[in-house]
Amino acid sequence: MNDSYKPKILAFLCNWCSYAGADLAGVSRIQYPPFIRVVRVMCSGRVDPLFIVNALKEGFDGVLVSGCHIGDCHYLEGNKYTVKRMEILAQLLDLSGIGRKRVHLRWASAAEAKPFADNVIEVSNIIKEAGPFNAKDHEMALNALTRALSTTRLRWLVGIDRHLTENENVYHEKTDPILFEKVKNDAITAEYQKALIQEALSKGPVTVREMADQTGIAIYTVSKRLNELELGGMADLKSCEGNTPRFASPV
Ligand code: FES
Repeated sequence: MNDSYKPKILAFLCNWCSYAGADLAGVSRIQYPPFIRVVRVMCSGRVDPLFIVNALKEGFDGVLVSGCHIGDCHYLEGNKYTVKRMEILAQLLDLSGIGRKRVHLRWASAAEAKPFADNVIEVSNIIKEAGPFNAKDHEMALNALTRALSTTRLRWLVGIDRHLTENENVYHEKTDPILFEKVKNDAITAEYQKALIQEALSKGPVTVREMADQTGIAIYTVSKRLNELELGGMADLKSCEGNTPRFASPV
């Protein structure tokens, strides 16, 4: 990668720790690359993965989310939810072909000026190595990520994860984390595939084969997901050419 390339990185910094750490790094004259644009949030748990997808759509090459160490969150467990959200986002970024190396989660307390600077250096190098991010080349994938991350199913799963796997229910049973992980992974794949198909449907009446070509999903899987979308009222049969049906989004 060209040494003159300066990546644009959006950094969401928690007010109570990393933002203060960044401040201290400045006061202490600790150097780090000037590639980050800072958004101060009250807790890393405030960062919705949709904010990160929007940042990529708006032309950022990568995103850093930095908050208090686990156990030090001023809202007790906000950063534990951040971890869960970032895990789902990382899986979706891999599925989309954009890749998880564009988005990073790091911890740094208010007193950790040097670790904060080291985090920025490390993340900047990874994103620099990944090269410029062209949102136009990933338009369909980015729109599908927005759709998938907005679904009730994924938002519910990310919210309920810790509750189910760390707490006992009324029968003093815990949900098996391995089983929950499988359910979650299946849901992530299914919701992303449906979101991609919805993107194809939104461009006008399309056949199953055309949807498969546009999304890169196997024809059998397109048919299966299309059926689920039809049942949910999110896809309509529009016309038939001979024996070939064409589908589109409902009006
Ligand atoms: Fe800093 Fe929650 S208050 S991560």
